[in-house]
Amino acid sequence: MTDLERKHDRTPVPKEWTYAPAPESREVVSLDDRYGHYVGGKWLEPSETYTTISPATEEPLAEVGQATPEEVEAAVVAARDAFENGWSGISAAERAKYLFRIARILQERSREFAVLESLNGGKPIKESRDVDLPLAAAHFFYYAGWADKLEYAFPNRRPRPVGVAGQIIPWNFPLLMLSWKIAPALAAGNTVVLKPAETTPLSALLFADVLRQAELPPGVVNIVTGDGRTGAALVKSEDVDKIAFTGSTDVGKAIQRELAGTGKKLTLELGGKAANIIFDDAALDQAVEGIVNGIYFNQGHVCCAGSRLLVQESIYEPVVEKLKRRLTTLRVGDPLDKNTDVGAINSAQQLEKIRELVESGEQEGAEIYQPPCRLPEKGYWFVPTVFTNVAQSYRIAQEEIFGPVLSVLTFRTPEEAVEKANNTPYGLSAGVWTEKGSRILWMAERLRAGVVWANTFNRFDPSSPFGGYKESGFGREGGRHGLEPYLRFDNGPSHG
Ligand code: NAI
Ligand code: MG
Repeated sequence: MTDLERKHDRTPVPKEWTYAPAPESREVVSLDDRYGHYVGGKWLEPSETYTTISPATEEPLAEVGQATPEEVEAAVVAARDAFENGWSGISAAERAKYLFRIARILQERSREFAVLESLNGGKPIKESRDVDLPLAAAHFFYYAGWADKLEYAFPNRRPRPVGVAGQIIPWNFPLLMLSWKIAPALAAGNTVVLKPAETTPLSALLFADVLRQAELPPGVVNIVTGDGRTGAALVKSEDVDKIAFTGSTDVGKAIQRELAGTGKKLTLELGGKAANIIFDDAALDQAVEGIVNGIYFNQGHVCCAGSRLLVQESIYEPVVEKLKRRLTTLRVGDPLDKNTDVGAINSAQQLEKIRELVESGEQEGAEIYQPPCRLPEKGYWFVPTVFTNVAQSYRIAQEEIFGPVLSVLTFRTPEEAVEKANNTPYGLSAGVWTEKGSRILWMAERLRAGVVWANTFNRFDPSSPFGGYKESGFGREGGRHGLEPYLRFDNGPSHG
């Protein structure tokens, strides 16, 4: 960095070089003042409500329901009724038709959804527009294609739907996680009760309008909003046949305990502490882009984020120097501005967690780097951060921060890289950067992670299964694998 600073001293760089604002229009979204629960194809007036806000401005956006156990039960009854009296009996091709419709409507309304997603969740519009929305639609298209081919996907096993699926999703990719959950469930012939996260309910509530447009039969998808108490009520509900959960490892463990011995099916997609491993023969500039995408994408609110950077010792200095320089060019600010790279932290609670862990990193002895950065006065913000001089035992190297914070460690040999990468209770993803194909394969065989990206990071495709090892959870979403948790089989193993 010293070289760079010296160069800066000599070059007449303008003190400030700002981009003109390029705001996306909020007008494409029209919000109601108050939302109920979407149950049996109708809006159920909620008995309790809370206010959902924009994390970038703290402005209130709407009142939404905090579903009580009775309201959750009403949704489960509606889902059971739809399952028994229609949905499980219609032809598979007919089911596919609805999924195709939903996919098309999401495409048609993608701008509206992208703006709403950024407004309620804080993520940059360029990400919700170019990643969340296209992938959400792609998931529905993909699973629409499987609906009438289940016999081919699982030959000789006579696949049948499970029944009513309870689905609990987080706030980091609200609409995309909804799609990951609902698309395979419906393709397999189930009905659904979905609970979005408390800080980001609005895209799920707008999705109810997509279901209306698609003329999906009432009760096939029900949406109840609320916090963990609502989620817990859904898990406890006796008439739910399967729970799918994405969120924290702690809540995942509690759900697993709750369901033990009930015979209900369960999939858990939990946290991660992924290693992004850079070998000395990697294309460094591309690798630096991959590192940035790996940890600063979506403010680092990504379960598979590349939050631990493992750099081969011989290239440590150039990598860290390039990385720091790149950080100074990241634009942090208004999520609805098309130039924004890093948006708002999703909630005050999450910001507090990030701050606490960053403080622990400094106290334990790591060296912190943050580029100069002016943050908006209102809202929840955190400057993109790099920690060097990190020991494996530090909390910032062990715990999921779920924020724009990278911990840099080094290694000398491939064996050491594998050992360090696997030295975590998690096992969701990993990245390998090297020119050698044989080394990629060697590493991928040894990394205990559900996904291993080579010379890229954070790439998703609906046909590719995603899920964890160890405390990152079990079960897979995406691909043919993603159908299995939503099916029971007359022949062969029925767990999944
Ligand atoms: P969380 O696990 O509490 O929330 C995720 C979802 O579970 C939300 O819909 C929430 O309402 C629901 N929930 C909470 N308690 C529940 C319970 N007892 N029974 C059923 N559902 C329940 O996660 P939170 O508190 O929002 O974030 C805490 C940390 O968890 C984050 O800092 C991050 O490290 C991790 N996390 C990981 C995610 C992932 O994608 N793997 C997503 C969100 C958070
Ligand atoms: Mg929580």
